[in-house]
Amino acid sequence: MSEIMEMLIRRGFLWQSFEIYGGIAGFIDYGPLGNGLRRRLENLWREFFVVNERAVEIDCPTIGIEEVYVASGHATSFTDVAIECSECGKVYRADHYVKEKLGFEIDESVEAVREILKEFDLRCECGGKFKDPEPFNLMFETKIGPGRGKKGYLRPETAQGIFIAFRRLSDYFRDKLPFGVAQVGRSYRNEISPRQGVIRLREFNQAELEYFVHPEKKTHPGFENYREKVVKLVDKRDVEHEIELGKAVKKGIILNELIAYFIAKTEEFLIKAGIDRSKLRFRQHKDDERAHYACDCWDAEVLTSYGWIEVVGIADRGCYDLSRHMEYSGEDMTVFIPYKEPVKVKKKVVIPDMKKLGPLFKKKAKKVAEELKKMVPSEKIVVVLDGEEVEVPRECYRIEEVEEIVHGEKVVPHVIEPSFGLDRITYAILEHSFDTDVVDGEERKVLRLKRWMAPVQVAVLPLLSREPFTSKALEITNELKKVGIFTEYDDSGSIGRRYRRYDEIGTPFCITVDHQTFEDETVTLRDRDTTSQIRIAIKSLSDVLVNLLNSERDIREFGEVFRE
Ligand code: ATP
Ligand code: GLY
Repeated sequence: MSEIMEMLIRRGFLWQSFEIYGGIAGFIDYGPLGNGLRRRLENLWREFFVVNERAVEIDCPTIGIEEVYVASGHATSFTDVAIECSECGKVYRADHYVKEKLGFEIDESVEAVREILKEFDLRCECGGKFKDPEPFNLMFETKIGPGRGKKGYLRPETAQGIFIAFRRLSDYFRDKLPFGVAQVGRSYRNEISPRQGVIRLREFNQAELEYFVHPEKKTHPGFENYREKVVKLVDKRDVEHEIELGKAVKKGIILNELIAYFIAKTEEFLIKAGIDRSKLRFRQHKDDERAHYACDCWDAEVLTSYGWIEVVGIADRGCYDLSRHMEYSGEDMTVFIPYKEPVKVKKKVVIPDMKKLGPLFKKKAKKVAEELKKMVPSEKIVVVLDGEEVEVPRECYRIEEVEEIVHGEKVVPHVIEPSFGLDRITYAILEHSFDTDVVDGEERKVLRLKRWMAPVQVAVLPLLSREPFTSKALEITNELKKVGIFTEYDDSGSIGRRYRRYDEIGTPFCITVDHQTFEDETVTLRDRDTTSQIRIAIKSLSDVLVNLLNSERDIREFGEVFRE
């Protein structure tokens, strides 16, 4: 790991934030190359989860008002258990500390932690005793406006902005389920003791899709393409399966076809982005592990030098969020689903008898009648009159069965949410792509990024850093930039050293302008992975490169190799 980290820092992928002031755990800067790679990842995600779905993307504030997070449950339930040393004051996340020191997983409850501390006499690294464990809310609190202000929180997930805007989103989709709404942006969690470097950040980037469906239709037409796809699953009993997705649903390992669909799509996306398939699995949350809103959850986990880490969570959030916001805001979050044909239904109704109500309730009789009509038929009916409960005598109303034509039903949609951590995926891609081999008898470091993901896709190198080589190379650089290829011009150092630099940052192709260029308008095109080179006409460069960068084709298809 340290070899990779050293390279990532030296070459400009990732840096420690606030470095000149000593830095602080949980924050990173993306240098030019890291930023480029993460942006490519973000755009690939959009292609998969927005453009090729019935979905749109929105962008909401990263600061939320208190009401939002009270309704969502985060204000009370978004906690980890913290343990603080009574001697040195160091604070740890309890489940991580127990795992590290005792090697097993524990329930994430204060009681469970208290018992473990006692049973194993678990101490701080300084030898001190821990204080009584406490839940710690992971949200960053803030104040909106001057003076006492209004309490707010930095969002811990991008999802809530989508739930809150649900009414408008449903209108946008003409109230037709299913539809998806995505959001890509920063989220914040005041992680207790982020000791896993770039994996556990306090400010990180999420790409989330909230896919709203009819509660009884948790499937997707695209699932047919994946029914026979084999994936690696670890279920909530820790049983491993290498199984077709259709069978996993049939056997009840995966709750529904929609979750299975997103598992398949997530796997396709991660592999296309450069994750090594042999280091990827999907693990189901145990019953005591799920977030407060989820009824089933699968994590995509990838193997890195930090062990297996979660990079994506795919959760069935049911109708939890919309129901809670409906309850707390009073806004209707239902969708009217028309039936194919109207149906006749028989129902019992309350019919008030004004002749009896009049003498008994006088001026209030009309109001009582109105209230009665709204009531569920019963032998005992109590209405509220001017804040007072009044029982209406049974002889004041009849209960009759009537037939009604019903055109549809109102439902609170359910939501399936694939939630991607872009920082963790970016890091995992870097680790999985990092390789060493031997070229010309020397060890070479090479980043085997997918061509479409590379932050610098093509490097144009004048063999000598003087005219006319430099002008020609700059001219080619500008031409390639015009067709949207991320191109860098570099004339510093020997050609061998420049090749090594671009191999190390994952640039798939280098172009060299040499003496022959001025004889026949050709350049050399060098492939990062094989280091083989072909001679190619300048006029066909853009077309060939666009083709190569969007595929895994061999450069030998485009010209004769003159150097293996
Ligand atoms: P963990 O168990 O590792 O804390 P989580 O279960 O809290 O993760 P989710 O709440 O499911 O994670 O968040 C969705 C995705 O957001 C995760 O799969 C992960 O990729 C990313 N993520 C969550 N917390 C962090 C963090 N502190 N730093 C970087 N990425 C994160
Ligand atoms: N939206 C899922 C999560 O961030 O926990």
